[in-house]
Amino acid sequence: MQTEKPTALITGASSGIGKALCEEFAKDGYNLILAARSVEKMQAQGAQLQLRYGIKVSVIAADLERVSGAAQLHAQIKQKGLVLNALVNNAGYATFGEFKDSDLSATLGMMQLNMYSVVVLTKLFLPDLIATQGKLLNIASTAAFQPGPFMAVYYATKSFVLYFSEGLACELEGTGVTVTALCPGPTASGFQAKAVMQASALVKNKKLPSAESVAAAGYSAMKRGKRVHIPGVVNRLLALGVRFAPRNWVTALLKTITRPI
Ligand SMILES: NC(=O)c1ccc[n+]([C@@H]2O[C@H](COP(=O)([O-])OP(=O)(O)OC[C@H]3O[C@@H](n4cnc5c(N)ncnc54)[C@H](OP(=O)(O)O)[C@@H]3O)[C@@H](O)[C@H]2O)c1
Repeated sequence: MQTEKPTALITGASSGIGKALCEEFAKDGYNLILAARSVEKMQAQGAQLQLRYGIKVSVIAADLERVSGAAQLHAQIKQKGLVLNALVNNAGYATFGEFKDSDLSATLGMMQLNMYSVVVLTKLFLPDLIATQGKLLNIASTAAFQPGPFMAVYYATKSFVLYFSEGLACELEGTGVTVTALCPGPTASGFQAKAVMQASALVKNKKLPSAESVAAAGYSAMKRGKRVHIPGVVNRLLALGVRFAPRNWVTALLKTITRPI
């Protein structure tokens, strides 16, 4: 019989989908490690979760855009003697606009956060997950299914997350570890402001699903060990549709859908 509560690390826990995922894990009785840069926000949120659900919450300041950020986070968790039953690679952001006008250091920072830190954390915590027959939840996006003009690098980072997750899930068959790639469409969170994409036709004047509904769908998919989950019927149909359409049509359509208006 398991007497200890399981432990989950959630990156990008200070806002949006990551914050909402904390609630899902806490409700289910996980102790939590919250990691992001906004320590005060996470401390306030952690105190609430401890009070409401009787769990333990650790808050760790982590900048996962820094090359050493993921390894430092792993070292801090190991110093506390904690073993993970679940890892959620959620921290991520997008940059919006034409690639020719983009800031190269911001683009490289995004790639570090969205891809490299995901790989480093997965690699370093995989022994924990194998030992505990644990869960890996990676937040990809519907952006993973096709190229995205005006967000070309972001879309490519999310394809990376999806393909990495599916390949790893297959390798880990029989170990008891499950890997889930959650692929949300546009979701109401801090994401659009951070990407400065409020003018994009993708989100302007659109009522977006809440981060809470996306997190609940992702948590349920992770519990079931589902490999890829796309919340929302329309998102699922679009992700399926692009498999059959000529690639040039798809990018032309995406250019129209995503353009600044
Ligand atoms: N919202 C959407 O439309 C949408 C759609 C599909 C997929 N997604 C994906 O969902 C995930 C969560 O995004 P969200 O929508 O919840 O956006 P959000 O509200 O902006 O949250 C992003 C989270 O990432 C953290 N983060 C950003 N830079 C970081 C850094 N350098 N180091 C550590 N943490 C960092 C932020 O915390 P700090 O700023 O405190 O560090 C925040 O907690 C991302 O991977 C995103 O790509 C979002």
